[in-house]
Amino acid sequence: MEEHRRLAMAAAFVILLTVWSSPAMAMAAAAATEKLKIAVPLKHGFRAFVNVTDQGVTGYCIDLFEAAVNKLPYRLIYEFVVFDRSYDELVQSVSSGINDAAVGDITIIAD
Ligand SMILES: *[C@@H]1O[C@H](CO)[C@@H](O)[C@H](O)[C@H]1NC(C)=O
Repeated sequence: MEEHRRLAMAAAFVILLTVWSSPAMAMAAAAATEKLKIAVPLKHGFRAFVNVTDQGVTGYCIDLFEAAVNKLPYRLIYEFVVFDRSYDELVQSVSSGINDAAVGDITIIAD
């Protein structure tokens, strides 16, 4: 696995953690009645970062995401939503609110 991609991903999770640890996010999460939808791109081929199978979603990215979420000062209820479209559409789905965040190789986005 390429080291710079790992580092970029780890840095992205630190940013996510910082944002999601804010009191405003904690209050929003406490008031939330629905699970956060975390989109994961469906990849055919390279599965070390995100590995979508019948058994669920695993991979280095998912491990990092779960480790980050477990460090939050509140319980975040979320589910992974497999997203089988282009990266642009993935980004769009987060900015339009269809999904709350996305986890994938290279980066993570939240809105
Ligand atoms: C992806 O998940 C499947 C099912 O758990 C597993 O058999 C496979 O080895 C995994 N692939 C990678 C690259 O981790």
